[in-house]
Amino acid sequence: MSEPILKTLYSESYIAAQVRRLGEEISRDFHGEEVLLVGVLKGAFLFFADLVREVTVPTLIDFVRVASYGHGTESSGMVELRQDLEFSVQGRNLILVDDILDSGCSLRFLYHHLHNRNPRTLKTCVLLDKKSTRKEAFEADYVGITLDSGFVVGYGLDYQERYRTLKEIYLLQEVRDLPEKGLA
Ligand code: IMP
Ligand code: MG
Repeated sequence: MSEPILKTLYSESYIAAQVRRLGEEISRDFHGEEVLLVGVLKGAFLFFADLVREVTVPTLIDFVRVASYGHGTESSGMVELRQDLEFSVQGRNLILVDDILDSGCSLRFLYHHLHNRNPRTLKTCVLLDKKSTRKEAFEADYVGITLDSGFVVGYGLDYQERYRTLKEIYLLQEVRDLPEKGLA
């Protein structure tokens, strides 16, 4: 495989501004209430850590973990729950927080999984929304940044488990011979 080339797409300050705006929107919509923020591991871990500190209403936090299998940079549409919530969902204002909405399969799966447990409200929040790659009809309630297509890494997002700890978001270019993607 040739070494991927990374091209800077979103700077730290631009990402921070979008995360701040999302925190403000959530805080405004849930004024006077408590929210249960649920991060989707692993990809959302940095976004989640920053977002929860921008939410000013009382919060509980929890995590779920899903694996979506696919080859290289394309989603397979097969989603498996690897780790469930600890909190009970019933009667709570739940907000699912994921890194990126791509095919829509992961968030759609999680949405239905949690909706069945009767939360008071159920919303979804993503840092990135890739509009042109959707396989399942699904839109998030809170969106940080919209992009058309392309595979991105950094700020929690990986390619084959690499690049998650980069502070900026990069476009991955010139990748050939793509093996399994692995955990989401
Ligand atoms: P889905 O295709 O919407 O189900 O997204 C599944 C998961 O694939 C996301 O939560 C990410 O972890 C991963 N993913 C999708 N697109 C990208 C990308 O451009 N870069 C890195 N990971 C991605
Ligand atoms: Mg993910």
